[in-house]
Amino acid sequence: MDLKSHIRGIPDFPKPGILFYDISPLLAHPQAWRHAVETMAASVKEWQPDILVGIESRGFLAAAPLAYVLDCGFVMCRKRGKLPGETIGHLYELEYGSDAIEIQADAIKPGQRVVVVDDLLATGGTMAAAIQLLRRVGADVRGAACFIELTFLGGRDKIDAPVTSLMQYDS
Ligand code: PRP
Ligand code: MG
Repeated sequence: MDLKSHIRGIPDFPKPGILFYDISPLLAHPQAWRHAVETMAASVKEWQPDILVGIESRGFLAAAPLAYVLDCGFVMCRKRGKLPGETIGHLYELEYGSDAIEIQADAIKPGQRVVVVDDLLATGGTMAAAIQLLRRVGADVRGAACFIELTFLGGRDKIDAPVTSLMQYDS
């Protein structure tokens, strides 16, 4: 199946010069989305995760069905100020701006095998921040999974863990 035919490139969003790779058509197409999730699940399964961590917000869409298929727990890595109770945070640079992510302090038990999931890997800043945060709470980070990888931005080089991606774009 040609998954890329379900990805839409939108120029100059959210800022001039950024080509936004929109996964909405993929999510809206049940057969294509099922195929994407099942293909990704087969890769992620190799890492034998206990928990999948999704990065807010589009990473939730990617991680939740994978966790369901793989019978793993699902944990949210959210943007600042969204999670109740004790949290641990990490500042990071985005492709367009900067932000902070947080996780609940007790979300991961030390030594749990974790795979971090996001829709897209661009500069790698978001994924790298999530991995650093997860290691601070004792996670055994087995890998990072994304549906789209913008290879021309070299994000993979920032990720200190194995990376898998379903679709690659070189421009
Ligand atoms: C986008 C995308 C990834 C991140 C990738 O999220 O969903 O999470 O940027 O960029 P990076 O590799 O350069 O860090 P965004 O922060 O735009 O928010 P959203 O998921 O809430 O739409
Ligand atoms: Mg995101």
